[in-house]
This record gives sequence, C-alpha cells and structure tokens, in this order.
Amino acid sequence: MQRIAVFVSGGGTNLQALLDAQKNNMISHGRIVLVLASNAKAYAIQRAMDNGIESVVVFRKAYGTQDEYDKAIVACMKEHDIDVIVLAGFLSILGKPVIDAYEDKILNIHPSLIPSFCGKGFYGLKVHEEALKRGVKVTGATVHLVNEIPDGGKILKQKAVYVKEGDTPETLQRRVMEEAEWKLLPEAVAELCEKLEEDI
Ligand code: GAR
Repeated sequence: MQRIAVFVSGGGTNLQALLDAQKNNMISHGRIVLVLASNAKAYAIQRAMDNGIESVVVFRKAYGTQDEYDKAIVACMKEHDIDVIVLAGFLSILGKPVIDAYEDKILNIHPSLIPSFCGKGFYGLKVHEEALKRGVKVTGATVHLVNEIPDGGKILKQKAVYVKEGDTPETLQRRVMEEAEWKLLPEAVAELCEKLEEDI
C-alpha cells in the first residue's frame, strides 16, 4: 500500500475528492496518511481532522532558504514514511531536493489545459480570470508529474470543460472543479499507486 501525503494551501476541495474516493475504495493501492499545509488557516486542515488524518503545517517563511525548506519537507516525508506526494492546490514551490527524492512520484492538479494558462503566477482563480480575459471557449484541468519547471512535468490526464456565456472566474472555477478536477485527481492518484505497487 502506497502511503500518500496531500499538500494543500486553501479550501481543500480536491483533498475532499481524494478522501471521498478513498472512502469509496477507489484508491485500492494507496492510503492518504498525511496532509501537509502551507499555512495554518487552510480549511483543508479541518477536512483532514474530520477524517482522522494527521496534518502538519510547514511555513515556507520559517526557513531562511529554499534549500532548507526543501530539506525540511523531505525529512517530514521520510519521518512519515511517505511514498507518493499529491499537490492539491498547494501554492509553495518545491525545489530539487524534494523533486529528486520523489522523482515521478509527485502529482499536481492544475486548473487549465496545460500548456495554456500555466507556469509561474498562474494559480487558483487567476487562471480562470486569464482564460476569460483571453476569451477561450474551452478550458479544463490537467494532472501532471512534477519536475523543476512550474507546471512543466509529464502530462498524465486532461479533461476539457466548456466556457459558458456570462461565466465569471468563480463560476468557471467551480465548473472546472466539478467536471474535471475532482474526477481526474483521484483517478490519477489511484493509477499511480497501482503502477508503483506493480513495480515493487
Ligand atoms: C484548484 O482549482 C487547483 O487546481 C488549483 O488551486 C485550486 C485549489 O482548490 N491549483 C493551482 O492553481 C496550482 N497551480 P482546493 O483547495 O479547493 O482544492
């Protein structure tokens, strides 16, 4: 069984989708054992608590350098015997020590069809604001492996979502979550865990 840590920064609806999938036995080869939050106010921490899952808060600003921060994250992961990391709305940047320690074992969900509206500065509502500004008719979500290039790792899954007349960033964000993110992420996590178990 792959031990999964979910990294969060905000509301944690993607974490909730993962917890629901776990409850429905959709992640047969993995188990969410830890939630790591970048700030203590993340509602995702409450979701972890409600589901009896341990959570830790690791502030980027508590560390002088990116390298110290990355090493602290790796130490925390090793301490909890983590096999797979899932970034579910996690806004801090992870550097080489983490990426090397978990090569091809870190997933991220991004709320657009990469390579559109991605990379540095594109996160959360901002992504949907930019999609509406550009006037695209189709957007969506992407699950990809994490490497050192922001949103630049191998694409594992994508799902398209139509933009509707009169959409606001908020309505579009909600539709992308409902129609794409909350389905894609649990599927991708289940598939990665299954593949890793086969490799053992
Ligand atoms: C989600 O839409 C996720 O795709 C996005 O942040 C939101 C977090 O919502 N992630 C990024 O923009 C990463 N670049 P949640 O906390 O409710 O899951």
